[in-house]
Amino acid sequence: MKVKNICCIGAGYVGGPTMAVIAKKCPEIKVTVVDINQARIAAWNDEDVNNIPVYEPGLGEIVAESRGRNLFFSTDVDGAIDEADMIFISVNTPTKTYGEGKGQAADLKWIELCARQIARVAKGDKIVVEKSTLPVRTASTLKDILEHTGNGPHFQILSNPEFLAEGTAVQDLLEPDRVLIGGSQDEGGQKAIQELVNIYAHWVPKEKILTTNVWSSELSKLTANAYLAQRVSSINSLSELCEHTEADINEVAKAIGTDSRIGPKFLKASVGFGGSCFQKDILNLVYISRTYGLHEVADYWEQVILMNDHQKRRFAKKIIRTLYNTVSGKKISFLGWAFKKDTNDTRESAAIYVADYLLNEQSYIAVFDPKVKSEQVFMDLDRLNTRNPEENRKYVKTETDPYKACEGSHAVAVLTEWDEFTGYDWQRIYDSMLKPAHVFDGRNLLDKDKLKSIGFQVHVIGSSD
Ligand SMILES: NC(=O)c1ccc[n+]([C@@H]2O[C@H](COP(=O)([O-])OP(=O)(O)OC[C@H]3O[C@@H](n4cnc5c(N)ncnc54)[C@H](O)[C@@H]3O)[C@@H](O)[C@H]2O)c1
Repeated sequence: MKVKNICCIGAGYVGGPTMAVIAKKCPEIKVTVVDINQARIAAWNDEDVNNIPVYEPGLGEIVAESRGRNLFFSTDVDGAIDEADMIFISVNTPTKTYGEGKGQAADLKWIELCARQIARVAKGDKIVVEKSTLPVRTASTLKDILEHTGNGPHFQILSNPEFLAEGTAVQDLLEPDRVLIGGSQDEGGQKAIQELVNIYAHWVPKEKILTTNVWSSELSKLTANAYLAQRVSSINSLSELCEHTEADINEVAKAIGTDSRIGPKFLKASVGFGGSCFQKDILNLVYISRTYGLHEVADYWEQVILMNDHQKRRFAKKIIRTLYNTVSGKKISFLGWAFKKDTNDTRESAAIYVADYLLNEQSYIAVFDPKVKSEQVFMDLDRLNTRNPEENRKYVKTETDPYKACEGSHAVAVLTEWDEFTGYDWQRIYDSMLKPAHVFDGRNLLDKDKLKSIGFQVHVIGSSD
């Protein structure tokens, strides 16, 4: 079989960019991205690529190049499954919010629905590719459903986890460190692996395409995220020690990062990691380990999450303590709401939890983020169910102008490391604030000395005030 037609179920932060790059690099293959969310598909089809639903530098251009040629976005899931030789499943796999495994296990409801739909619709043989991040051994569940509910065709299941990072997705997809493909070790599995290798080989050097058994591939994705998050929690744990000892976390990070065994990346202290993946994937690892009775393994990885929660809470507490132990009725300005720069994704963003903590103390919050829409901020807060939507709207205001957001406030808190924040007219911001004017830099982003010379009281993660 030579793959001529690809379908991807799920037009989200992974499905959209990944398929756009495959379509760009494989113009002879028709790529159709489908989703049940009509509004999302309509946005992917918006004539103006500035309105596509995922903000990623460079993505608009890539979509514009292929869309309508060999890249299509559609809500006709059945039609796309029927046509495809290879089907990527790229749907959401959030943490379960109910029942057995609540708060830790991955909710595989959407994966199962996809499998049942593929089985119902498929008339010919298909290669089904797990692109979503899944618990190790999910491929056997997929195979079970496909074989027991299908109409006779043969299915090969591959695991091809995605390692892109939001904010640099296009670059990561064009020049990946590696591509990982897991499949069964029999002849059919090896042929299916080869088909997917052939697709990536259009632009990825062969030595960077790793092939493994399917379980190693599934587990490697959870492990990669756990390792990355562990580095963040490790440096964050030391940031607190620095604040008490006059050591400086940036200097410590540089000193240890130059050791080639440690390396310089993921050593930036911050208000805590966010995003849809790290927390859910570690929780998933913890859950799987507990399921196998490996409690020490589970406890070890769980600590990464506990440290991250502590870091977010600690940042909020520091604001309260510094503002004379009360923020009640005070305006605090948030620069940034997205979980990191260069994305409009806010899932699990530290900003949400810091805001929630401060709102419990009855502060007013003004939020400015260059890419996050106002509705999203309120949706994030309402979802916590800490207070009713009316209260969230009473205490939180979103602004489209950063200077307006900072006007009349007691403190500015930097929650996302957007580059543009460094270029603001900080004198103007200072002049418009109440005094003493505080800056809490949760990203180690701003020029501390410059701010101090303007008159700000500056509080930076990982260095003593
Ligand atoms: N976001 C990342 O940076 C990232 C990176 C690597 C891996 N992943 C993994 O990739 C997967 C997808 O993540 P995402 O961020 O793209 O999620 P997302 O929520 O942005 O997108 C998932 C999409 O799937 C759609 N969907 C759900 N069920 C469907 C169904 N039955 N039929 C059609 N469409 C359906 C949803 O409507 C949604 O638009 C997750 O497993 C995630 O862990 C994410």
